[in-house]
Amino acid sequence: MPIAIKTGEEIAAMRVAGRLAAELLDWLAPQVQPGITTGEIDRRAHDYQVNVQQVVPATLNYQPPGHRPYPASLCTSVNHVVCHGIPGDRKLKSGDIVNIDVTVIKDGFHGDSSRMFCIGAPSIQARRLVDTAYAAMWKGIRAVRPGARLGDIGQAIQEFTERHHYSVVREFCGHGIGRQFHEEPQVLHYGRAGTGALLEPGMIFTIEPMINAGRAAIRCLADGWTIVTADHSLSAQWEHTILVTADGHEVLTVSPGTPAPPSD
Ligand code: MF3
Ligand code: CO
Ligand code: CO
Repeated sequence: MPIAIKTGEEIAAMRVAGRLAAELLDWLAPQVQPGITTGEIDRRAHDYQVNVQQVVPATLNYQPPGHRPYPASLCTSVNHVVCHGIPGDRKLKSGDIVNIDVTVIKDGFHGDSSRMFCIGAPSIQARRLVDTAYAAMWKGIRAVRPGARLGDIGQAIQEFTERHHYSVVREFCGHGIGRQFHEEPQVLHYGRAGTGALLEPGMIFTIEPMINAGRAAIRCLADGWTIVTADHSLSAQWEHTILVTADGHEVLTVSPGTPAPPSD
């Protein structure tokens, strides 16, 4: 299957889904405080999605081949959890960093975004990792334009990350998105400029680099979903859904609370 070029109507629907994902993160942000459990965040987010936004939480019972159904309406990945952390009884405490990853389905179209939250007072190292991961995502986003290649995105993220002495997780990547949660292409967060598929206006995909403070290697826990760093170092991730436009890119997962792009 080639990479889909979305029609004007599909793009309009993806703008709505993207905005709703971002607004869900906005709504959650003030509630992500010391003492709340990740399970409580999930319950509140589930109700808000279903009752207020009238969207379908895409992660709930999501079951790719070889996996058991994912049991929650978002992912919460705390500290050394890289991604796909399952909400539960864990209480967030001052100093924790947590990624909240939400994917909503509105009128059949998916919007996928995640942000990092620092609980109370994070360490300087944790703050630096979170900020560097954010800037790494934006290095990738800024490489998106017609005529660029997927490898340009990967190289931009990898070079920036490794220059800061962090590592890029290899096993998970960004992805095309639309009526399906995960479509072609795979958007690697490492690689070589000038390689890979050519970007064309109308393509929509996520950029969501997972950046580790230590080594890149990961492990999957016995729950079949939770991915952790093999060396237990901290990990951070941000995600946006991006449209390739005639003259560059448009971030679809935007809302009033979306953090500003870094200045560089
Ligand atoms: N939202 C994740 C992504 O960015 C996927 C989560 S799948 C789940 O692609 F099943 F773990 F929720
Ligand atoms: Co994604
Ligand atoms: Co996501």
